[in-house]
Amino acid sequence: MKLLLIGSGGREHSLAWALAKSPRLIKLYAAPGNAGIAQVAELCDLDVSNHEAVIAFCRAKGIDLVVVGPEAPLVAGLVDDLEAAGLKAFGPSRAAAQLEGSKAFTKGVCDEAGIPTAGYGRFDTCDAALAYVREKGAPIVVKADGLAAGKGVVVAMTLQEAEGAVTACFEGSFGEAGAEVVIEEFLQGEEASFFVLSDGTHALPLATAQDHKRAFDGDEGPNTGGMGAYSPAPVLTDPLIADVMKTIIEPTIATLAGRGTPFKGVLYAGLMMTGDGPKLIEYNTRFGDPECQVLMMRLKSDLLDLILASVDGTLATASAQWRDEAAICVVMAADGYPGSYQKGTEIHGLEPLSTDRLEVFHAGTKQDGERLLANGGRVLNVTALGSSVLEAQQTAYEAISKIDWPEGFCRSDIGWRAIERENNS
Ligand code: AMP
Ligand code: GLY
Repeated sequence: MKLLLIGSGGREHSLAWALAKSPRLIKLYAAPGNAGIAQVAELCDLDVSNHEAVIAFCRAKGIDLVVVGPEAPLVAGLVDDLEAAGLKAFGPSRAAAQLEGSKAFTKGVCDEAGIPTAGYGRFDTCDAALAYVREKGAPIVVKADGLAAGKGVVVAMTLQEAEGAVTACFEGSFGEAGAEVVIEEFLQGEEASFFVLSDGTHALPLATAQDHKRAFDGDEGPNTGGMGAYSPAPVLTDPLIADVMKTIIEPTIATLAGRGTPFKGVLYAGLMMTGDGPKLIEYNTRFGDPECQVLMMRLKSDLLDLILASVDGTLATASAQWRDEAAICVVMAADGYPGSYQKGTEIHGLEPLSTDRLEVFHAGTKQDGERLLANGGRVLNVTALGSSVLEAQQTAYEAISKIDWPEGFCRSDIGWRAIERENNS
């Protein structure tokens, strides 16, 4: 098959790497891709927000399937437009991608299906939202309704902070995404991520992961897109996974199917393990980044077969096989990230690192002749397998010690929570 992969991050490099192993693959194109993706795909200069241009490219190249990595094209309806043009695409429709595109939409689905989640109110005026936070008090969570590149959520520990977040939202800090605000009860517990694949009616459990969102060691510093991840998440035991499937995932899939907007693609549930059992924090409608990297490292099955089962509606007879081992991903970012950072610094020392236990996925890189340059905030994803999270962590950090990139940094404690658990068991 000829495939077009949309995206340019470490998630997409790991998807490209996994797809390239499929015997069904004849040719992989990527738009826009990065220097790592270019090792397994032909990069094409396509404006992916121009759906007509994507359709024209697919027709010209005889593309059999488009795989969409990030959320923005999904919410923009790329899959709908490709399908309307008679092309196959992996990922949810615009309507189903509202599970990520609108927090109020997801809360409505939870109400309709009785899905355990934080209590909430939704508001489209500042005064009403302020009155609600004053009535409820802190801690409380303030969320811009729409897509805000992971920055639209404030977990407010004081009333003042909550009022500030509400005001900022309605003053336009997040543009259109903040025109409506969801205010939630603060949930306490350990967070974990759970990934399933759906074909619209059936949900196939994939795997679990945990990520580290803060920039610095000890989970300190500003929030980022994710500085590292590991899989599996030990807190999500098999009985808890069964519970999440029954109380959260299956009712969601059934509700969207019942509304005539079935969910196809990867559903990524952000969960809080509370004293009352797992509760849904949020949905994403795609693989996580860097969670995808650890999942791809552990996946034994053919990724393309699984994707086709989602697209073709045959997931009920599919299964996904995983390595029992743990995988860890350490993100190397440009100094200054998530604030302002320099692009174009040179990276050396990657070539000899890849083994059957270790991959360096590229998140933000570009090739300039012989030189490999940093081209983003998150730049490299050093991803390793191990018989334990500790062993995987040691393999990853040993590789990092050999990477010559003085303008980059990483956390030195990725996996700490799981390693603590390993030490105590
Ligand atoms: P979200 O973008 O909705 O995943 O929120 C970002 C982060 O904010 C989550 O990963 C949680 O750490 C935190 N968060 C979101 N909602 C809540 C909540 N209701 N209670 C506690 N923490 C939350
Ligand atoms: N790592 C979080 C996300 O992909 O949304």
